[in-house]
Amino acid sequence: MTVDRIRPASAADGPALSELAVRSKAHWGYDEGFMTACVPGLTISSSRLLAGPVFVAERGPSGPVGFVALDLQGADGVEVTHLFVDPPAMGTGIGRRLWERAVAAALVAGAPALLVESDPNAEPFYLRLGAQPVGHRPSSAVPDRQLPLLRLVLD
Ligand SMILES: CC(C)(COP(=O)(O)OP(=O)(O)OC[C@H]1O[C@@H](n2cnc3c(N)ncnc32)[C@H](O)[C@@H]1OP(=O)(O)O)[C@@H](O)C(=O)NCCC(=O)NCCS
Repeated sequence: MTVDRIRPASAADGPALSELAVRSKAHWGYDEGFMTACVPGLTISSSRLLAGPVFVAERGPSGPVGFVALDLQGADGVEVTHLFVDPPAMGTGIGRRLWERAVAAALVAGAPALLVESDPNAEPFYLRLGAQPVGHRPSSAVPDRQLPLLRLVLD
């Protein structure tokens, strides 16, 4: 099974993408307090939709099954800020397709590399897709939590 299309997000997508991000993050088994702390960072507001490109994966008539969001003006370079697949659709190649879409957008922007601050559980996914570990960053949502930072060099 593959994804049917990846399209730019529209203003109407925000609530559905925010709910998808929460479902996806919760898939790792985090407790309620942790998830509550993460909600602001998982919310795709209309200002976030305007701030940088967001691409939505769709399969059949069922609506979004995943999305990726980029910051083309990040302090450290072009960065993936969100990459989430709906749990029933995980493990079917959608994450890879969304990452490839982000790589294409970074190349168009002329970026030498693509960064991502990863959930620790997702780090093996980014390693599989060729990114290299380049350190850690403190989580903006949860005190005393360090998140792996990965970088894919773009040719
Ligand atoms: C991480 C995530 C985006 C992966 O998406 P996915 O659609 O399930 O991944 P894919 O099916 O495209 O897998 C692509 C490759 O990565 C591998 N992979 C995926 N998840 C993996 C994991 N957790 N550990 C190791 N390898 C993994 C797959 O085996 C596949 O390898 P292959 O193509 O060589 O067979 C998805 O699990 C997710 O949304 N997780 C919860 C939210 C999250 O943490 N997002 C990242 C925020 S930084």
